[in-house]
Amino acid sequence: MEEYTDTLKANHESAIENATDGVTFGIVIGGETHQSAAEETFRPTDPAVGAPIADVARGRDADVDAAVAAATTAYAEGWGDMTPLKRGDAIREWTAALRDNLDELALLETLEVGKPLSAARADIETGLDFFEYYASAAVGEEGSVPPVGDDSFAYVNRESYGVTGQILPWNYPILLMGWKVGAALATGNTSVTKPAEQAPLAVIRAAQLAQGILPDGVLNVVPGFGDEAGASVASHDDIRKVSFTGSVPVGQEVMRAASDDVTPVTLELGGKNPFVVFPDADVEAAAQTAAVAGLYNNGQSCDSGTRLLVHQGIKDEFLDYYLDAVEDRTIGDPLQDANQGPLCYSTHRDKVEQYVELGEKEGATILTGGSRPDDTELDDGYYFEPTVFDDVDPEMRIAQEEVFGPVQFVLEFSTYEEAIEIANDVTYGLTAGVFTRNASRAHRAAADIAAGSIWVNQYFGTVPGTPFGGFKQSGIGRECGKEALTEYTQSKSVHLALDDPTL
Ligand code: NAI
Ligand code: MG
Repeated sequence: MEEYTDTLKANHESAIENATDGVTFGIVIGGETHQSAAEETFRPTDPAVGAPIADVARGRDADVDAAVAAATTAYAEGWGDMTPLKRGDAIREWTAALRDNLDELALLETLEVGKPLSAARADIETGLDFFEYYASAAVGEEGSVPPVGDDSFAYVNRESYGVTGQILPWNYPILLMGWKVGAALATGNTSVTKPAEQAPLAVIRAAQLAQGILPDGVLNVVPGFGDEAGASVASHDDIRKVSFTGSVPVGQEVMRAASDDVTPVTLELGGKNPFVVFPDADVEAAAQTAAVAGLYNNGQSCDSGTRLLVHQGIKDEFLDYYLDAVEDRTIGDPLQDANQGPLCYSTHRDKVEQYVELGEKEGATILTGGSRPDDTELDDGYYFEPTVFDDVDPEMRIAQEEVFGPVQFVLEFSTYEEAIEIANDVTYGLTAGVFTRNASRAHRAAADIAAGSIWVNQYFGTVPGTPFGGFKQSGIGRECGKEALTEYTQSKSVHLALDDPTL
């Protein structure tokens, strides 16, 4: 038996015990929790202390087949034909059960992702807002009656697909379940959800909390690895629509796998998002927002604002405020609500660390951070200091590629055109921040930047009603808002010839 000698470890040992006691982290199919067909398990790690959390069923093809069968039955036996109002009632009742168990879900998410407990709560509550939004918005969906001339009549309905697959990442497990599963179920589809191998626990619990509320088989969760359960969801013949959030290479792989059956995909991939500060901005507010834009969730967000493009005339002033805000952040135990916990998994911290080394090799200068924290209590976890680069050239790899960690850089520009050119000169186009007091400049920049969401004098801000998704390699399709309902339905045009009115 390993001895836990210090407080951080002792804290986590008892939190893991509390969060997992009596719970079976199995495969949820048809309203029941099962072992995997092969009776295999894997163990996600608590990144704050590097300790295993629980045994989780390791799903593969046979388990995805069983989940698809249950989802097919549930769709045929009524979920697909139910009125949106009744479906919405069931989703809202489930959401209320999730809200009643918010503490448990937040603790699981903190343990598996490493995010501060208050952030886990906030992220999950946002996810629940999405379930409620879709449940109501689906009630307001309408078809249309296009004009087709006097001799016929036509109407257009939107129908659900049937069984749909959701492949989730680890950075916002319940929030992204809200985005994807919420839209799928509200529009009458059933779901086979594959959570990330790093963070399956809260998602499994959420599915278990649906038991007795959602009809059996409406929501099935198959935990496992990407190249096993994930690949199986992406390629399954009877899954009619796939939604994925994660890396660009895996998104491409999912799209290839789905193409065998011409299955439509929604892909929400990465970002390398610009945060543009014009000389007339409120510099202090912009600087403080910049630190949150880059460091919320440890920079492990597709919409992190990582490229700080700052006008040369205000760069020094900006840096004063911004570096203070970065250096004020506490690193430590996410259960004690440090501003910043560990990165989510060991090899991911390695990747972030390698990008920082690469940035230095490429000739950039580190203004703050740059290494693991100098604190022996944190040695077993996957912590990394918030890191800021200066002297960055827009062509450097550190300026082009998604790091997905607490790493930002500052780059100065002198003209509007130069700012826009740098902002757009990456393969991504997900989000952007624009800071200016000039309304005309704000709208001009919003029009000129190629990204799916533009935030002016604020950063982050996606709410249930606003579509979210990327230009260029940041993705295909949109989540959130009414567009998500459109993504999860297909139109059917019905044409009826009108008889000659002679009797
Ligand atoms: P990933 O893209 O490998 O994993 C995301 C999900 O896809 C997980 O559920 C995984 O099991 C699944 N998956 C992996 N291979 C698959 C396959 N062949 N077929 C079907 N599903 C598969 O991302 P990973 O490894 O967690 O992170 C790597 C990088 O990806 C990050 O450093 C970051 O740059 C980016 N990323 C972006 C996210 C976003 O929010 N857009 C979220 C997570 C990662
Ligand atoms: Mg991967």
